[in-house]
Amino acid sequence: MLKDPSQKYRPFPPVVLPDRQWPNRVLTRAPRWCSVDLRDGNQALAVPMNVSQKLELFTTLVKCGFKEIEVGFPSASNTEFTFNRRLIDEQRVPADVWMQVLVQAREDLIERTFESLVGAKKVIIHLYNSTSPAQRRVVFGKSKDEIKAMAVNGAKLIQARLPRLRGAEVRLQYSPESFSMTEVEFAKEISEAVMDVWQPTPERPMILNLPDTVEVAMPNVYADQIEWMCRHLKRRDALVISLHTHNDRSTGVAATELGLLAGADRVEGTLFGNGERTGNLDLVIVAMNLYMHGIDPKLDFGDLNAIRDVYERCTGMTVPERQPYGGELVFTAFSGSHQDAINKGLAERERGGPAHWDVPYLTIDPTDIGREYREVIRVNSQSGKGGVAYLLETEFGILLPKELQREFGPIANEIVDRLGREVSGAELKTMFWREYIERPQPWALQGFETESKDGVVKCRVKLLRDGQPVAFSGEGNGPLAALVHGFSTAGVPRFEIANYSEHALSAGEEASAIAYIQIKPAGGKSRWGAGVDTNIELASVRAVLSALNRS
Ligand code: KIV
Ligand code: ZN
Repeated sequence: MLKDPSQKYRPFPPVVLPDRQWPNRVLTRAPRWCSVDLRDGNQALAVPMNVSQKLELFTTLVKCGFKEIEVGFPSASNTEFTFNRRLIDEQRVPADVWMQVLVQAREDLIERTFESLVGAKKVIIHLYNSTSPAQRRVVFGKSKDEIKAMAVNGAKLIQARLPRLRGAEVRLQYSPESFSMTEVEFAKEISEAVMDVWQPTPERPMILNLPDTVEVAMPNVYADQIEWMCRHLKRRDALVISLHTHNDRSTGVAATELGLLAGADRVEGTLFGNGERTGNLDLVIVAMNLYMHGIDPKLDFGDLNAIRDVYERCTGMTVPERQPYGGELVFTAFSGSHQDAINKGLAERERGGPAHWDVPYLTIDPTDIGREYREVIRVNSQSGKGGVAYLLETEFGILLPKELQREFGPIANEIVDRLGREVSGAELKTMFWREYIERPQPWALQGFETESKDGVVKCRVKLLRDGQPVAFSGEGNGPLAALVHGFSTAGVPRFEIANYSEHALSAGEEASAIAYIQIKPAGGKSRWGAGVDTNIELASVRAVLSALNRS
């Protein structure tokens, strides 16, 4: 890279619009949408779609609710032409859907385009030519006036052929391609020259599409360009201002949203942002961004997974895992604290919670688009205690009390840290067993018997202490109280039971019950023990011994 990039690159000149209005506006309704998947998207595929793939994607776009679909560039290839003809001849275009076709300002291409449209019911003819200084200089070697003459000529060639589409409703669209790199004054001049030919009216407006063909500036600059055009163009009321952004600086969505604030009425883009280079605008994102603000986007992405499947099958592209809304992982939480917050938010909704969606970390309810929230628990040295507890619970039915989770979490993390890798649920169980269950020293259980009379429980205990037999008895209001009393008579420093819980272990485990006990030595620090046994009373005795053995 250059030490001084200013020797090679220059900043993009801003539009002079000191009284810009768009920053104070908010979006309150959906724009008109136009999918350009079958043209702009298709143009950018390593292997362009064949006719049957295009038909499948077209049907999906219709199901999503698109009423304007750029079906192709029929003069560009036989596949494109045949696709157009099949849509029309096989009457595959619903009565309320407009077929849009793209064409350059060349007579032979315009001629062929009209042939491809005979018999269509609703048609948008989309004329374009490039207008930026670099395109004028490098590609065409033409002056501004010559470029304008090209556009005007194309507009006239189309105008002259309209009678051939008698019986069809026709809308006309013009794009000064590379608009965002064009001087706004010239973009206005050339657009108005086309308007002079087509003579749009408020009742029969033309679409003026102002593309961000290559994104070269920040999205606020595009918004300024759009607002400037909306305010300076003559007969604004006879125009549908359309946006068409690409994503070279990764702000195609932002440019579109700001462009809508700046006064545009219509948006072109593709599903999941397929398109040349870094892609076109991702229509799913803009539509769902409106939806998450409570605005009906007038597109239906209620089964986004199915739409993604069709898209991937037809285009051979894959939707990146982190693509907003559509990506595989966008409703998956890996972090324990995120999972905890999401679960609390979902539980609050279950209980009735606030009327509006307000679940931490989830911008929308994934089920609204046919998706589901997922948790992935992977325990590594960065994981919280929640992940450890979750794996033990889901894989082995081991329900650690919250306080025990707090004690065992750091113990497990330290071991995992030493291993330097992620660990499985089974490995965590082994760690737990080693730390709590398999603790035979110094105390080991030999026998424990109780008898109960008049609410008093007496116990007789046989133990080994460092391999030497020890026996004592005790009494209390329950077996554990009796055991604790017995220990005190045997000269063991006093302690009390601070916490106790137990549950059955899942089928298949060798022992049927597990008990967790927290003991609090007089003047000492509380600690947990755990024991398993087929007998729940013995499981809790073993848990006390485990806690003592862990001192
Ligand atoms: O990106 C672009 O400018 C285009 C035009 C043809 C509208 O695709
Ligand atoms: Zn494009």
